[in-house]
Amino acid sequence: MTILVFDSGIGGLSVLREARMVMHAHRFVYVGDDAGFPYGDWDGAALTERMVGLFETLIEQFQPRLAIVACNTASTLIMPALRSRFDLPFVGIVPAIKPAAERTASGLITVLATPGTVSRLYTRELVRKFASHRRVNMVGATRLARLAEDHMQGKPIDTGVLEAEIAPCFVEADGRRTDIIALGCTHYPFLVNEMRKYAPWPVDWLDPAEAVARQASAVLSQIDKDIARRVDGSAQPQADLAIMTSQSPSAAIVRLLGGLGLQLRSQAFPSLMSAANSNCCTESGRACSTLRK
Ligand code: DGL
Repeated sequence: MTILVFDSGIGGLSVLREARMVMHAHRFVYVGDDAGFPYGDWDGAALTERMVGLFETLIEQFQPRLAIVACNTASTLIMPALRSRFDLPFVGIVPAIKPAAERTASGLITVLATPGTVSRLYTRELVRKFASHRRVNMVGATRLARLAEDHMQGKPIDTGVLEAEIAPCFVEADGRRTDIIALGCTHYPFLVNEMRKYAPWPVDWLDPAEAVARQASAVLSQIDKDIARRVDGSAQPQADLAIMTSQSPSAAIVRLLGGLGLQLRSQAFPSLMSAANSNCCTESGRACSTLRK
């Protein structure tokens, strides 16, 4: 049985890592929409249309049992559209605002995410529901996801940019300081060690990936009573795959995916082709860049 794990790039590998641990009997297909990366500043309607088109192909091709949208920027927008369009359980990821609000000692927490995620109504509602008794600082970072992609590929990163991006996360008020930063982008866990070095004081960096993996596993157990039989090893194991929508990931990404035991597979996405043809050089520069890549 296949589980899809989807992100705009390679950041969702932080969720795949956890998902594989709790659902080890399953076959995973990791999909990085690197042709659309970064998702942080996409218009909501255009991103929804794009992702629905991609999932159409992915679901037809792999007949997955479950899909994990390992991208906060997408999950805070698109879950209702995916659930109403496809007859498949979807699990998304959102910033760990509730746990942060429960655990903070100082009462000052920060949500560090893409501009898309911090601006979403869904995210604002999470704050209203679970953290209205706390002081919540929302930081939309425009360059961190890209830095994470570079760092994951072993490229040097501009630490001045990193420092500037995280600086607004740290707030002091009435003798208290931010003590928890909720990581609202699946790319950021790969930068935590770097971010720690440039943090003006120590904080907890909350990554919801493990909780999401456990949630996905619970959903799966509920819908599939055959799990125990498959854990026994009676089913033929299939290789875990990775698909990058650009069809031309860098050599470093190919190595990274291979090192994680993911076989790179090329996959055509008709919706990308038709979007590129109809929008090219009109309102959507992204469609053009898809073609160019
Ligand atoms: N990894 C994605 C997230 O969790 C966002 C990165 C991007 O495409 O901007 O929000």
